[in-house]
Amino acid sequence: METLEKIINVCLRRGIIFPTAEIYGSLSGFYEFGEIGKRIKDKLIKVWKDFFVEENFVEIEGSLILPKEVLDASGHTKSFVDPITKCKKCQTIFRADNLIEEKLSIKVEGKSVEELNKIIKEKNLKCPKCGNELEDVKEFNLMFKTFVGPLAKEEAFLRPETAQNIFISFKRIYKAYRKKLPFAIYQIGYSFRNEISPRQFLIRLRFFTQAEIEMFFNPENENCPIEKYLEVEIPILTREEQRNGRNEIKWFKVKDLLNNLIKSKWQAYFLAKEFLFFTEVLKISKDRLRFRHVLEEETPFYSAGNFDLEYYFEEIGWKEIVGNAYRTDYDLSTHSKHSKEDLSIQEEKKFIPHVVEPSFGIERIILALLFENYKEREWSYFSFPPYLSPYLIAVFPLVKKDEIINKAKEVYEKLKKIFGRDVIFDFSDSIGKLYARADEIGIPFAVTVDYQSLKDDTFTIRYRDTKEQKRASIEEIIKIVENSINVDFKG
Ligand code: GAP
Repeated sequence: METLEKIINVCLRRGIIFPTAEIYGSLSGFYEFGEIGKRIKDKLIKVWKDFFVEENFVEIEGSLILPKEVLDASGHTKSFVDPITKCKKCQTIFRADNLIEEKLSIKVEGKSVEELNKIIKEKNLKCPKCGNELEDVKEFNLMFKTFVGPLAKEEAFLRPETAQNIFISFKRIYKAYRKKLPFAIYQIGYSFRNEISPRQFLIRLRFFTQAEIEMFFNPENENCPIEKYLEVEIPILTREEQRNGRNEIKWFKVKDLLNNLIKSKWQAYFLAKEFLFFTEVLKISKDRLRFRHVLEEETPFYSAGNFDLEYYFEEIGWKEIVGNAYRTDYDLSTHSKHSKEDLSIQEEKKFIPHVVEPSFGIERIILALLFENYKEREWSYFSFPPYLSPYLIAVFPLVKKDEIINKAKEVYEKLKKIFGRDVIFDFSDSIGKLYARADEIGIPFAVTVDYQSLKDDTFTIRYRDTKEQKRASIEEIIKIVENSINVDFKG
């Protein structure tokens, strides 16, 4: 069985993450998070905030539905499209670019509908399901449309990215929070995309969570504290490597990327910080990460450079988990023009700020964490760092005797006073099965209460990763657990 299948099985069996509307046959591209999954997600978001949010950051929580005018201005109603084609006989719909790349091994990134049609005709590409002819390629807009109000007159859309709320709130935040450049507005929330073929579990969803930072700055005086990251080395897949098909990852010091591959100090700043976050906080292996310098033909016309942080998912391959774009003054300018609201600011002079954007896909990062930490011995377990584990401590009585259960409850209550809802208590099974269940969802510490505990107030603490067990007092247990989560996350 492949690792992805095993991970999905654990997620289903333990109610970590499971398909939406399962009892009605599911809704493709939509997933529900159960208690354990939600805890992992909340902890990921907590460490993300601890690491990335700085003093000059302002958080917003914006509307999930946006009026059509916003998305006309941003270009989404016109350009947020994927090319599709349909089989003339079996009516199966395919993403035309993916189909060509998969079946003909031709790179078609950035090619127009006409060019894709030409390739399909010239290469005589047929429906992979039934072998019949394909219809002409068309553009399909990925946004979910809805209508606001009882008369259903006002067209609106579920937001396809969280960034647009930030741009349209920029002037209000700038003034109300008395900000000076450089400063960032960030948002963590849901985005919706009517993907043509959702697949690979959490990789391509129709409803997912983004954590996006929009850093506003003056391009002539970026005022970016890049000094602290100049010596950080990051892995880059250069455009040159992609063009010659070698795909060799090269390591660069941040100082050598500036004014060379990267045009903004703020973009370099976030690439360095992201790499430190993934390797030092999330403990992802360095050799499964790379920044792909997005090719010119794939780069949006308004961007002065995109770098996708990709993770190597076993069996699936390299996939983007964070998008990095230097969006210049495009968004504020276009919203100024369409809304007729002047979004320029007056500091040293009057100008429209530039924007660098890191955009994190939370579910893809969760899947990377599941892959990275999935381990097998007599049973499977997740070796999450303690601060990302759904619970920290499981308290078990060794045997189901009243005095032992009562003592275990006492220990549970004491630990709960310090670690709150991160402690669980269970005596529903034999101790072996309880350890297995705790390991399976990645609980790093188990505390077992036995007859000796009644005599001397010591307990067995068991470490998930090593299975090592040792006797300790409650005070010692508290220290061990505290030390495991007291990590300085400042990047
Ligand atoms: N505001 C920029 C933006 O939205 P993006 O590259 O389209 O950029 C950013 O998306 C991140 O959101 C991606 O790196 C990915 O992690 C996540 N993402 C995008 N589409 C997704 C999908 N259909 N399912 C799950 N995650 C997705």
